[in-house]
Amino acid sequence: MASQNEQLGTLRSKFISDGVGSTTTNYIESARGALLRDVEGQEFIDFAGGIGTMNIGHCHPRVVAAIKEQAEKLMHTCFLVNPYESAVKLARKLCEIAPGDFPKKAVFLNCGAEAVENAVKIARYYTKRPAIIVFENGYHGRTLLTMTMTSKVKPYKFGFGPFAPEIYRMPFGDVAGPDKLNDFFIKQVNPESVAAVVAEPVQGEGGFIVPPPGYFQELVKICRDNGILFVADEIQSGMGRTGKMFAIEHWGVEPDLITVAKSLAAGMPLAAVVGRADIMDAVHAWGLGGTYGGNPVACAAGQAVLKVFEEENMLEKSVALGEKLMARFAKWQQEFDIIGEIRGLGAMLGLELVKGESRQPAADEAKQLTAFCLQKGLLVLSCGSYGNVIRILAPFVITDEQLDKGLGILEAGLKDISN
Ligand SMILES: Cc1ncc(COP(=O)(O)O)c(C=O)c1O
Repeated sequence: MASQNEQLGTLRSKFISDGVGSTTTNYIESARGALLRDVEGQEFIDFAGGIGTMNIGHCHPRVVAAIKEQAEKLMHTCFLVNPYESAVKLARKLCEIAPGDFPKKAVFLNCGAEAVENAVKIARYYTKRPAIIVFENGYHGRTLLTMTMTSKVKPYKFGFGPFAPEIYRMPFGDVAGPDKLNDFFIKQVNPESVAAVVAEPVQGEGGFIVPPPGYFQELVKICRDNGILFVADEIQSGMGRTGKMFAIEHWGVEPDLITVAKSLAAGMPLAAVVGRADIMDAVHAWGLGGTYGGNPVACAAGQAVLKVFEEENMLEKSVALGEKLMARFAKWQQEFDIIGEIRGLGAMLGLELVKGESRQPAADEAKQLTAFCLQKGLLVLSCGSYGNVIRILAPFVITDEQLDKGLGILEAGLKDISN
């Protein structure tokens, strides 16, 4: 007799496209805080957080209550037809918390890729320029434009071309030197054609890569000198993940536009572009928007999330989580030869796995490690262009007991793959 997970797996392979992958075969029935429970009652400590979407934890009671209350009153009108309060109030709050000492405005969309698409539309409209500069190891989504902007070929781009035009890619973190950038402007694209540079402050899917100190300040200066907008894609690094609301705040840089999604509404589909009011207002009326963007229920969830951040010390919790992870990772780095760099910032932390004299990416070992962890009740994901970085995106509300147990499993896994 097939188990419930197996039965659902059979149904899935019959009716869900094989083009959609899943890391696990456990069908999740419920979740709370940092704990997932599947249809067979197996529990998993969640170090993946819906790929960075559950920063304040699964089914936070205040978010659930806000969703219920809003759903009883109004679920949809389409903001383009009838506006409503939750979108306007959430926009005000987002504009208040986004870095930048200037008037700001926001537009709501459904997902991260759509936010990036809109940031590009807005930047092109405002500057009247076509080109966009992105980075190696960058990830911006799976739509035609955003997969073009994304760096990794398989699985994101392979077979899906032709790609969108006017996207130019630089190495990340080592091009702020004016010489190299001048070279790029000579050989790749002239700066007068560039509308925006779009960068993840800490690269997520690409392997939790943090650029060297001073990098963003210099990059933004070059942008400003050339009339190029700077767009920070905070979809994974934002909403407190690195210990500040937006990761770019670590460098004191004020982006012209910021994209947010994932943990903005704790699991409800909501994304936004927020940025300089004059840029956001450049577009003609009706040029932006969509049927569901800024749906009332999603916006009510977003408002509740921001209240939880304020009233339940989420940034402090994030910092504390980052410190606990770093202490343990630093110890492991001494103990396990397979660990290369400790990557990331705050609670957006990853372990690079490498092997051999030449310290090659240890992708197979990373796969073995995540499989070992899952088997022992810990969900943890890998990332990186070579799939060899173990990344932590655990909810900030994870209890000490859950964290210790999860780290214990990870440590046992590191021992296992080191043997
Ligand atoms: C930095 C970044 N940008 C954009 C996206 C795309 O977001 P979505 O999957 O909601 O379209 C992601 C998703 O992982 C991301 O990490």
